[in-house]
Amino acid sequence: MIRWIWLSLFVCFSGYTLLVYRECDNTQTRADSAALAGMQTWQDKNCQSCHQLYGLGGYMGPDLTNVASETGKGAEYMTSFIKHGSGRMPNFNLSNAEVANVIAFLQWVDKSGQSKVNPSAVHWTGTYSIPQK
Ligand code: HEC
Repeated sequence: MIRWIWLSLFVCFSGYTLLVYRECDNTQTRADSAALAGMQTWQDKNCQSCHQLYGLGGYMGPDLTNVASETGKGAEYMTSFIKHGSGRMPNFNLSNAEVANVIAFLQWVDKSGQSKVNPSAVHWTGTYSIPQK
């Protein structure tokens, strides 16, 4: 009897695992070589010590998850910060190619989702309803 319960649990688990893998479409979120190189620069220069992605990281600079698509910001805006730094952000003397790659990385991160929760989506219990596509 116990053996049958275990077997049916195993079948359910395997079937569900297969289903999850088949349903998962990661073709749009796959990073290209520029974004991967940019991620390496992001790690080498430790950008995350001051910036957050999805709220995780240092808090000296702003969250950069969606900086690529924020109105008024974008590739040129990011380039000026990354290339020259600011009063509070250091200049890392990155080459033009490295800057372009870091931007490709941030654009890729941006496509992965939204980091800011719309206040109207927060329920009074503190839960958040995921917007349906
Ligand atoms: C020592 C902390 C520090 C590090 C390390 C750092 N930054 Fe920053 N960064 C900041 C601060 C602070 C700001 C806000 C600057 C200001 O308003 O003067 C900023 C601003 C930015 C902005 C503009 C964001 C916006 O929404 O206005 C971008 C893009 C950016 N940083 C990218 C990077 C990248 C890429 C790296 C790594 C190569 C990096 N930063 C490393 C502190 C840092």
